[in-house]
Amino acid sequence: MSQRPTVPVPVSEMKVLITREQIARRVTEMGGEITRDFEAQSILLIGVLKGAATFLADLARSIQVDVTFDFFGVSSYADRTHPSGEVRLTKDVDTSLEGRNVILVEDISDTGLTLNYLKNVVLTHRPRSFKIAVLLDKPARRIQPISVDYLGFTIPNEFVVGYGLDYAEHYRNLPDIRILPREAYDAG
Ligand code: IMP
Repeated sequence: MSQRPTVPVPVSEMKVLITREQIARRVTEMGGEITRDFEAQSILLIGVLKGAATFLADLARSIQVDVTFDFFGVSSYADRTHPSGEVRLTKDVDTSLEGRNVILVEDISDTGLTLNYLKNVVLTHRPRSFKIAVLLDKPARRIQPISVDYLGFTIPNEFVVGYGLDYAEHYRNLPDIRILPREAYDAG
């Protein structure tokens, strides 16, 4: 007996907010900005699992200086659409950050709690330099201000999925960024 995988909302019912072509163009530009800023230096890109993995993979390939990767794991949402206000490290980096040019790579900045928390973790390890690269910024729900050095797009106050971003672990593989209809999460 075959079982069809179920997702909360069919992909065809979710409006595209940012197309794959727009993403590719902007990520390439961001890689160019980073390449210029770090000419002849090495960079450690630290992605935040799991959402930033797709963005990190594309961004890294647009950077033309020496790059290594590492990852943080965090749990920040008790319920993915309502911030608990608590951030917890579930996976630390494997490499030493001291004296490195660190760029923290995140999919989206929403309340700002995750990036502020991770910024403090990184700065404790005394990197040579510290920058933040974020694909999407959703300023409407900011609780803690955060200064981003490389930003892809500013978006309205919608819950978005695709290009690494999920809803209950679904939709990370969608190539475009789409808006999850409010009925999908407001009902419960
Ligand atoms: P912050 O700590 O509130 O800034 O939240 C950052 C994290 O919340 C991101 O890494 C995402 O995992 C998640 N998040 C916030 N907004 C969205 C969204 O619109 N779609 C998917 N995940 C989101």
